[in-house]
Amino acid sequence: MVRLFCERVCQGTARRAWDLGEREVRRSVPEGPWVLVTPSYKTGNPDNDTIPEAVRRFLDDPVTRRRLVGVMGSGNRNFGRHYQAAARQVAAASGRPVLLELELQGTRWDVEEARRVLDALDGALTEGSSGPGRPA
Ligand SMILES: Cc1cc2nc3c(=O)[nH]c(=O)nc-3n(C[C@H](O)[C@H](O)[C@H](O)COP(=O)(O)O)c2cc1C
Repeated sequence: MVRLFCERVCQGTARRAWDLGEREVRRSVPEGPWVLVTPSYKTGNPDNDTIPEAVRRFLDDPVTRRRLVGVMGSGNRNFGRHYQAAARQVAAASGRPVLLELELQGTRWDVEEARRVLDALDGALTEGSSGPGRPA
């Protein structure tokens, strides 16, 4: 569902999505600022509750973590207090914002909102490219 959402967000734009389900992608380091879109998966293990293993591994790299600018989550409200737990945990641990929360593959509105948020981030990063605080 996350993959489908990302494809719809990127469709007809210059934006690209990389699938962390692919090993080569997991082993790579983003060349610049990037946004994580993650599902949440409650495993029943309280120590490793909802962050997908692929996301965990990708975030092991400090440069990858430093270049992360924000998080979007795909979840399902049926999971109650665990709704969006992975996106919220990554955001809290990294100090980055949750940019968007959607259910399952998201609605057309979610796709539009994601594009709006990403365009705004692009604008902010371009404006601030010579100033302090830019993720590098
Ligand atoms: C076994 C299982 C556990 C899930 N646990 C959560 C959860 O803890 N919180 C949540 O918000 N959504 C949960 N979901 C919903 C998924 O995050 C949601 O369906 C997401 O869109 C799946 O994306 P994917 O198909 O790309 O993996 C769970 C779904 C399944 C099948």
